[in-house]
Amino acid sequence: MSLFQIDADKCKKDGLCVMECPVGILEMKEDGGPPSPLPLAERICLRCGHCVAVCPTAAFSLATMPAEECPPVDREHLPDLEQYGALVRTRRSIRVYRRQPVERETVEQLIDIARYAPTAKNSQQVGWLAVLGADEVRRFASLAVDWMQHLIGKRDPRARAYGMTGVVRAWEAGNDAVLRGAPALILTHAPAKYAGALIDSTIALTTLELAAAAAGLGACWAGFFMLAAADWPPILDALDLPAGETPTGALMLGYPKLRYRRIPGRKPARITWR
Ligand SMILES: Cc1cc2nc3c(=O)[nH]c(=O)nc-3n(C[C@H](O)[C@H](O)[C@H](O)COP(=O)(O)O)c2cc1C
Repeated sequence: MSLFQIDADKCKKDGLCVMECPVGILEMKEDGGPPSPLPLAERICLRCGHCVAVCPTAAFSLATMPAEECPPVDREHLPDLEQYGALVRTRRSIRVYRRQPVERETVEQLIDIARYAPTAKNSQQVGWLAVLGADEVRRFASLAVDWMQHLIGKRDPRARAYGMTGVVRAWEAGNDAVLRGAPALILTHAPAKYAGALIDSTIALTTLELAAAAAGLGACWAGFFMLAAADWPPILDALDLPAGETPTGALMLGYPKLRYRRIPGRKPARITWR
């Protein structure tokens, strides 16, 4: 079966799919018939589904993506610029969490949104690891603290640069400055050989962070933890990622204990116009 399924009866021959295709593998023939794929189209196709998305009559399907399985766009439910701006501006990095655990279903909902984030060439290679439960998250934080103690012990310049002595002291006093006592940790991973691994994962996690804010949860980038994960084999062992995959980003996640009343200022955008 061909990848490109065009229903000639439904097709209005408007050429929208041809215009939209990002890799230009569709053409309208002179005979006035429906569009057809160029030679090698199946090999070049990104499977992004823009042909399916743009067709007003559901005439275009991919064999792997039937039009009737792609939900119609409901404009009523789209946030306007003001609403989206409010979400972005009121999102905060959350570092003080309620004890309330984060349900698996909630994480599933958030990931189900984040998987729609753009990926280079639509390659969709971001994987997710969800660590649920404050104790389990704390186990990962303690491994990061071990790494810090190791760096402090060997006078590694990173220990001073990142203020690790303070983090370790706080840990010993019962305060987790690495993963902040979060009840969940959401980590992305991707094939180590994939050039878009970091960028795609960062976009996906950013999308998830905003979705979390919309759902009344809070997140915080786990930068300290990621530094440790990149350098400390015990963390990689504990993550136990699929073979060939590398950790690409992580967010703490939980219900915020504090409420923010104002939007803190940020530097003006540095823009050059040409
Ligand atoms: C890549 C990255 C790594 C970060 N790592 C940490 C971290 O390890 N611990 C932490 O408490 N905050 C971390 N943050 C949160 C920043 O400190 C925070 O975004 C910044 O202070 C602005 O605050 P806001 O996110 O509430 O606007 C990180 C943020 C980013 C983008």
